[in-house]
Formats: sequence, structure tokens, C-alpha cells
Amino acid sequence: MKQTQNILADTFGRTHNYLRISLTERCNLRCSYCMPMDGVPLTPKPHLMTGEELFEIAKLFVDAGVNKIRLTGGEPLIRKDFPEILTHLSTLPVSLSITSNGVNIDRHIAILKSHHVSTINLSLDTLDAIKFKKITFRDYFEKVYANIFKLIDAGFKIKINVVLMKGINDNEINDFIEFTKNHPVNVRFIEFMPFDGNNWNREKTVSLKDILHRLDTAFAKAEILRLPDAPNDTAKNYKIAGYTGEFGIISTVTNPFCDSCNRIRLTANGQLKNCLFSTTESDLLTPFREGKDIKPIIQKAVLGKHAMRGGLSTPEQFNDPKEHSDNRSMIRIGG
Ligand code: GTP
Ligand code: 5AD
Ligand code: SF4
Repeated sequence: MKQTQNILADTFGRTHNYLRISLTERCNLRCSYCMPMDGVPLTPKPHLMTGEELFEIAKLFVDAGVNKIRLTGGEPLIRKDFPEILTHLSTLPVSLSITSNGVNIDRHIAILKSHHVSTINLSLDTLDAIKFKKITFRDYFEKVYANIFKLIDAGFKIKINVVLMKGINDNEINDFIEFTKNHPVNVRFIEFMPFDGNNWNREKTVSLKDILHRLDTAFAKAEILRLPDAPNDTAKNYKIAGYTGEFGIISTVTNPFCDSCNRIRLTANGQLKNCLFSTTESDLLTPFREGKDIKPIIQKAVLGKHAMRGGLSTPEQFNDPKEHSDNRSMIRIGG
């Protein structure tokens, strides 16, 4: 039965109708911006949500008003029971999406299609196979690149996530924009963000301003078209006149978009994170296993959400790497 009280509304007038569920903390890549050099202590399997638990908890959120679910990881497709999880979730009245590194996504095209996953977000930070191996510590460039075209041919809308890092891949901004010339993709340039163990410092982040400046040097003003903002979108979107695809900029570090935030996160071990940068989490799995009503816990977690970036609202606070060591590493959040 639908809730009469909106347990997903926070104290700043935001309602959270978008749930991101991390299916696993594991990944078949080792991207330096996401996976700490020494790896992460993996949560023992009994502490992770089973497929059934994940479905039942997701259903509670849907009953409370969630209408969009994104599956993340680690790499969500690593999870052996991914097909069953997707099949179950597809019975809920939500739009379903996935963020994947694309390495093995070709094996799942049929099931993604049949369960109406229409937009797929793929991580690809470089168009250079050698650099790909340097960033990810794995040799899968050709596979991921080929899979982009397999997905396009199968009719999916594709967003390509490019985490920009100064001196590593910022010289490829124009190559990625040229990639949109003939391919119907949305390339999103993402400001490198700080998480536990990813050796972030502000100097490594390529800012929205830097990206726009580079655009101005490569294209005439009239060619750079700013596209209208979709509600709750993380990206500011653009297109070069006459190009097939689009590109966007996700600027959490220099231009946060928290006032339109509609996202909450459920980690693979059943913790609710009310923000990507929250250092506190609410355990849903333990009380759920004890048969307790977890709705009041969800409501309390949402009401505790800060206005901006888990409470790190000033650039000074956000730029201090120490402020991020109490958060999880990105591999254990899922983006
Ligand atoms: P859609 O808008 O549904 O297409 O997805 P998305 O862009 O939010 O998701 P995706 O998993 O592709 O993430 C792309 C980038 O946006 C990653 O770097 C995420 O960490 C970042 N991101 C996603 N959600 C949030 C959010 O709630 N806040 C912030 N600050 N960044 C986010
Ligand atoms: N900063 C910004 N984006 C990141 N992602 C992973 N780690 C970071 C980071 N440190 C992005 C990847 C992935 C998405 C889920 O999150 O591009 O596609
Ligand atoms: Fe929402 Fe937190 Fe992301 Fe801001 S940083 S948009 S509040 S999840």
C-alpha cells in the first residue's frame, strides 16, 4: 500500500525518488580514482544483501515513492545473480538503469533489453588503449570500445562517463567531443572527486571552467549549444552544432548541484547513504533481517541529509582530503 506520509522528503524540500543500489563491492577493473591502491577489505558475504533482501528493501522504497532505480557496483555485472536481480526489480513500477564499466556487458544485452533498461551509463576515461591500461590496470580497452557499438546497435541510449584527471586524460577532451560527431552518445566529463583512498587533491581536478575554456579555444561560440537542463540532472549538457551526440559536464567539486538532489543510495551491505559524501550511514539490513519496520529508519536518514555534499559545503572543507577519509572509497559506494 502507498505511504500517506512522504518518508523520502528532507528538511530542505527535496524529495528522493531516485534510488541507487550497489550490487557488489567487487570490480574487474582497478581504476585509480575509484579503487584504493591496496584494495578494500571486502565485506563477508553473509553481511551483503541477498537478491531477495535487495528486492524486498527496494520494494519498500518504491512503495514510498521511488520511481527510478540505478544499479551500480563495483561492477554490477560481476554479481552472479544479476539476471535474477534484474528480473525481480523489473516487476516494480520504476525506470531501471545501470552504470557499468562495459567489460562484459555484451553478455547481458538480451536481458537488459527484455527488461526495458533503455539507458546505460558506461565508464570509459580514454580513447587510447595504452592509457586505458594505465588507468584501470587491466587490458580491456578493445572490449569496452567494441561493446559501446554493440549497445548502440542494440538500440540503447548510451552515456559515457569520463573522469577527467589533470595530466592524465585532460588532453582528450576534444577527442571525446569529436567522438560525438558521428556517434549518438552523451559523453559526460566528470570532475575528479575525493573519496577514501583515491589520493585526490584539488589540483588533479579539471574544473567545469577549465573544460568550458578548452571548448572555447576549439570551437566558435555559436557552435557550442547549451542544452536545456533536465530536472535533477547531474550534468550540464551541450552539443556541437551538427554533431550527432552530446556531451555534459558533472561538476560536483566546483559547481555542486545539491539543491536539486533526488538521490539516495543503498550499499551492497544494506546501508542507506543519504548523500554521496555522507560519513554516516543507516543500517537497514540488520533490522530488516530482524523483521523490524525499517521505514522509520529510512525517514530519519533522509531527514538527516545535509543541504550540500554531506555537510562539506565550503570549498575549503571540501578541498581538504582529510574530510573524506571517513567516507567510503568509491568502489564501495558505486557512484
Ligand atoms: P543519470 O542522471 O541517471 O543518467 O545517472 P548519473 O549520471 O547520476 O549516474 P552515473 O552512475 O553515470 O554517475 C555519473 C557521475 O555522476 C559519477 O561520477 C557519479 O559519482 C556522479 N553522481 C551520480 N549521482 C550523484 C549525486 O547524487 N551527487 C553527486 N555529487 N554526484 C553524483
Ligand atoms: N570522481 C568522479 N567520478 C567517479 N567515478 C568513480 N570514481 C569517481 C571519482 N573519484 C564515476 C565513474 C563511474 C561512476 C559510477 O562514477 O565514472 O562511471
Ligand atoms: Fe545529492 Fe550529496 Fe550529490 Fe549533493 S553531493 S547532489 S546532496 S548526493
